[in-house]
Amino acid sequence: MATVLSITNQKGGVAKTTTSLALAHAFARFFPEKKILLIDLDSQRNATSILLGGAKDIPPEVSVHALFQASKPTSALLHQTAVPNFFIIPSSLHLVEVESQLSGALDGFFKLKDALEGLKNEFDLILLDCPPSLSVITINAMVAADFLLVPLQISKFSIDGIQNIRDAVSTVNRRYNANLKILGGCLTLHDGRTTLAQAMIPEVEKILPILKTSIPRSVAVEEAHLLRQDIFEYAPHNKVAVAYQNLAQELVPHFGWGAIEGMP
Ligand SMILES: Nc1ncnc2c1ncn2[C@@H]1O[C@H](COP(=O)(O)OP(=O)(O)O)[C@@H](O)[C@H]1O
Ligand SMILES: [Mg+2]
Repeated sequence: MATVLSITNQKGGVAKTTTSLALAHAFARFFPEKKILLIDLDSQRNATSILLGGAKDIPPEVSVHALFQASKPTSALLHQTAVPNFFIIPSSLHLVEVESQLSGALDGFFKLKDALEGLKNEFDLILLDCPPSLSVITINAMVAADFLLVPLQISKFSIDGIQNIRDAVSTVNRRYNANLKILGGCLTLHDGRTTLAQAMIPEVEKILPILKTSIPRSVAVEEAHLLRQDIFEYAPHNKVAVAYQNLAQELVPHFGWGAIEGMP
């Protein structure tokens, strides 16, 4: 049965998509026997355009739009990426229309969870790349997920934001999904040398545990995205590639997987 990991933060630009892509590639690469699925839940479709090409919109009937409408068997929505054991259910601009439909439906928070039931036997890990809002789609992700990872960039605003995520998770835990667990915050675009970042970490930790691995900044990330390559292919020895490999290694015990080969 697949573990479901949601990459969530209602702030934009904190590296949710970058982290979703890098983790999916790390898991797919270092665990070739595991089957990985990424679901792009953001109508801006950044993950989709990097993995499948950005020029054309994917028809809504073979995207996450159809998944929320339960209009097709979920297995018909899977798109193969360039990596054999890594699949994506792409996003669509039409996802926006789904939000109002979900808000009006009695079971509107459960659509994603229900849809994933049919896929959980087929995959080992399902990653959810969330939109930059605490919308009904993000709540769907929290209801469907086993674990939440919160990429965050240290700032005063990020502290207000993570309190909101904590509150949402408490409500989801109480009412919809007692199983959901926050794995922690992952510091992204991180410059550990600044005194501001150092001073704010204890403030963040009052709200959310912070994972050991942080992700530094590098132009290689943007360059790899432009070439639609993954960071391990584009710059395997870059500090960001190394950091994401470490993050993958830090997370796998939660999935009950063994260590990445060659890593302690
Ligand atoms: N480690 C990093 N170093 C440099 N740029 C990064 C890094 N991580 C993300 N970025 C860039 O920051 C921007 C926001 O990242 P993105 O993953 O799209 O965030 P989100 O999905 O949270 O909106 C993108 O332009 C991305 O290329
Ligand atoms: Mg994104």
